[in-house]
Amino acid sequence: SRFKISASFSNAVLQPSDEIRNSQPSLNSSPIVLSDGTSNAVLSVEKASKLSKEGSHQTSWNTSGKSPKKGGRSFYEKVFAWWYLESPQSKSHSEPFNTDLKPILRKLASLVGPDYMMLSVAIICMIVAAVSELAIPHYSTKSVFAATQRLGDEVSKNVRLLIVLVFMYGSFAAMRGFCFSMLNNRMTRRLRDELFSTLIYRETEFFDQTDVGALTSRLQSDCQAMAKCVATNLNIAMRNCIQAIGGIVYLYNLERRLCMVTLGITALLWAVALLYGDFARRSQKVFQDVLALSNTAADESLSLSRTVRTFATEPQEIARYGTWLDRLYQIGLRQAAGYSLFVMAGHWACYASKVIALIIGCSMVFNGTLTAEQLTNFIFYVEFITYASLNVCDEYTELMEAIGASERVVGLMDKRPAAQTLPGKVPQSFSGLVELRDVSFSYASRPNKKALDGVNLRLEPGAVTALVGLSGSGKTTLVALLQRLYDPSGGAVLLGEEDEATREEVKRRATRRQARLAGVKRGKGWKSGSG
Ligand SMILES: Nc1ncnc2c1ncn2[C@@H]1O[C@H](COP(=O)(O)OP(=O)(O)OP(=O)(O)O)[C@@H](O)[C@H]1O
Ligand SMILES: [Mg+2]
Repeated sequence: SRFKISASFSNAVLQPSDEIRNSQPSLNSSPIVLSDGTSNAVLSVEKASKLSKEGSHQTSWNTSGKSPKKGGRSFYEKVFAWWYLESPQSKSHSEPFNTDLKPILRKLASLVGPDYMMLSVAIICMIVAAVSELAIPHYSTKSVFAATQRLGDEVSKNVRLLIVLVFMYGSFAAMRGFCFSMLNNRMTRRLRDELFSTLIYRETEFFDQTDVGALTSRLQSDCQAMAKCVATNLNIAMRNCIQAIGGIVYLYNLERRLCMVTLGITALLWAVALLYGDFARRSQKVFQDVLALSNTAADESLSLSRTVRTFATEPQEIARYGTWLDRLYQIGLRQAAGYSLFVMAGHWACYASKVIALIIGCSMVFNGTLTAEQLTNFIFYVEFITYASLNVCDEYTELMEAIGASERVVGLMDKRPAAQTLPGKVPQSFSGLVELRDVSFSYASRPNKKALDGVNLRLEPGAVTALVGLSGSGKTTLVALLQRLYDPSGGAVLLGEEDEATREEVKRRATRRQARLAGVKRGKGWKSGSG
């Protein structure tokens, strides 16, 4: 066992077993073994040294474009290798790239659900604004050509219609903006509230193993990105989709051949956008992962500044953090390159469709199969469609990034509350008797190392019990079990006269409150800094 207990009635003395005495960490096994006497410091030092190994460890993640294995690599392989991004947390995090979208969509739907009225109003405003805007070029061209033919009535009729359209577009766009902003606010609030409520009920092991900074970042930026996904990205994408489709229908009625050319180029643009969307999503995910790790690295070094000072490892810490910064820089470089390529392809497609339409259209005007008015209209709408598609593509990539954020949020939300927080029976009375029967326990982060092994202890009501033992012998762990922060991996912690069966049903929160009153209070004579 980890320690021997010499207990007489209510007084238990914990002494380290030989195993512990002999297993003092050496300078070689861990780079930083000095602690301030609490095991938590030792833990974070161990974590830091583990991280420092990770930081300097060269994974298959490629930042420089140089091939890990020397030898003949073709140009294309090198180009591919340069673009290839793999998350440093590769094993567990590689699968979200081909995520199942269903749970995310279900979550989003349940989030929008309570605001369906506002969403409906927003969508109606969006449609009216989009259709009004779509009609503006048509009536503009009509007025201009009516003026060239000196048709005064026609001009004034079209101008009046234009004024109505512009007024409608302005007001409905404003209402659309207001509704979607409100929706964004409400959804962000609801999402944060739900995520926080889920997190607060998670088991203690979860908080032992999760960086709080990462959780607050989920609450802050990921929740915002997820709400923005519906309120902004989807809104802009839908509005532009309506306009692109409306424009295509209009062009189709105007001149089929020209419409097909525009459609072909737009389809090409979509293909590029899909490709880029996938890249953007992947690179954003890797960027977030590396950012989180770099923050952890900085956090560890700064929080252990005394230890760093003691061992004069400042240069190593700078180098370790620098490795993460280099990686962030390399990902940023690829993101910038990818985005520029996408923008280039987009603009090429826009102008190519315009130029080709102009060439074909002009020849048709020469042949007399198309009027000048029709051609002008055509050029207006080609621009309309290509810009609308470009906007849809732009939003699509952002949508993909938002899905990345949603994956993380939904992943956290899916979890059930810890067993200790579930409602159960409230004990009728509690005499103060606490009994540990053959209790063993290992922390989830070190499942192979028993913090407690076969502990038997009876704490009689009204008696003062001192728990004495060397650092790391398990005093804090034992008290944590009494508080029911953790459940023992073997044996049972029993309160009052209850037996093991009823223990499971005892209302957990009530138990913890009573246990805190009964056993965990530090009395006079307890040395601070221990226990
Ligand atoms: N959150 C944790 N995760 C993993 N291992 C832990 C954790 N907390 C403590 N340990 C390990 O469990 C063992 C018992 O630690 P514990 O903190 O209970 O000892 P302690 O007797 O309270 O020590 P101290 O007198 O220094 O406070 C140690 O080996 C410690 O490293
Ligand atoms: Mg302790």
